[in-house]
Amino acid sequence: MITMSMWWFLTTLAITAFFYLPAYAYDNEPLQDTCVAVTDNQTSVFVNGKTCKNPKLATANDFYFSGLNVSRDVYPKFGIAVTVVGVKEMPGLNTLGISTSRADIEPQSLFPFHTHPRGTELVTVLKGTLLVGIFVSDPANIFKTRLLSKILYPGDVFVFPRGLIHFLYNVGNKKASLFGTYNSQNPGLITIPSSIISSTPRVMDTILAEGFQLNKTQIAELRRKFS
Ligand SMILES: *[C@@H]1O[C@H](CO)[C@@H](O)[C@H](O)[C@H]1NC(C)=O
Ligand SMILES: *[C@@H]1O[C@H](CO)[C@@H](O)[C@H](O)[C@H]1NC(C)=O
Ligand SMILES: *[C@@H]1O[C@H](CO)[C@@H](O)[C@H](O)[C@H]1NC(C)=O
Repeated sequence: MITMSMWWFLTTLAITAFFYLPAYAYDNEPLQDTCVAVTDNQTSVFVNGKTCKNPKLATANDFYFSGLNVSRDVYPKFGIAVTVVGVKEMPGLNTLGISTSRADIEPQSLFPFHTHPRGTELVTVLKGTLLVGIFVSDPANIFKTRLLSKILYPGDVFVFPRGLIHFLYNVGNKKASLFGTYNSQNPGLITIPSSIISSTPRVMDTILAEGFQLNKTQIAELRRKFS
């Protein structure tokens, strides 16, 4: 026999679960001091479905990364370089919900429109002058956004909320360097134009043409530029 108060309890529980469960879809709260990610399942224990190194075998190097003092070589076409320090590069980040990166952008170069599906990013400019922007959705019109942009100088900090499309453009005359920190051990990176135009396998030309309201000649041109 289920009483009224039990119904009330069960309903509250169901509503609470509904609101709290999605939080566990990404970086979990750690249940122990360390859960160093490993690929060798012979020396591992499972926590929250993840494979962890036996904590007794964890070493300082699992929590260490070296090399953010220098820029990677830039991608020639884009004039940008990025070094990500996520759980893949630093296994000790596993379950901690945090990661970092360094980006370098040549003068008049653009870190193209992109999104991090699993992390908010806090950028700190070390060198150079950057115009950054985020596109905020317009609840009244699904085809519109509002651009929030700002010029950043060394020491300035800007936040790109999780999932929002953003860009960074070097408006100065020397190379710009910045650090990006994320509240995810694996924030992900989806670059908007190239992810659509140069997917594998290719999306059909007619779909690209319809999606961008361009004709086939213009689509061929886009494909060439992003190949
Ligand atoms: C452990 O790894 C080996 C080799 O990758 C694989 O064949 C095996 O199925 C794994 N065992 C478990 C329990 O996941
Ligand atoms: C960057 O750091 C690494 C590791 O500490 C060091 O070997 C290298 O010399 C440094 N490079 C520069 C340019 O400072
Ligand atoms: C495609 O569009 C461009 C720009 O409007 C135009 O110059 C060109 O003639 C069009 N080509 C075709 C095949 O429709």
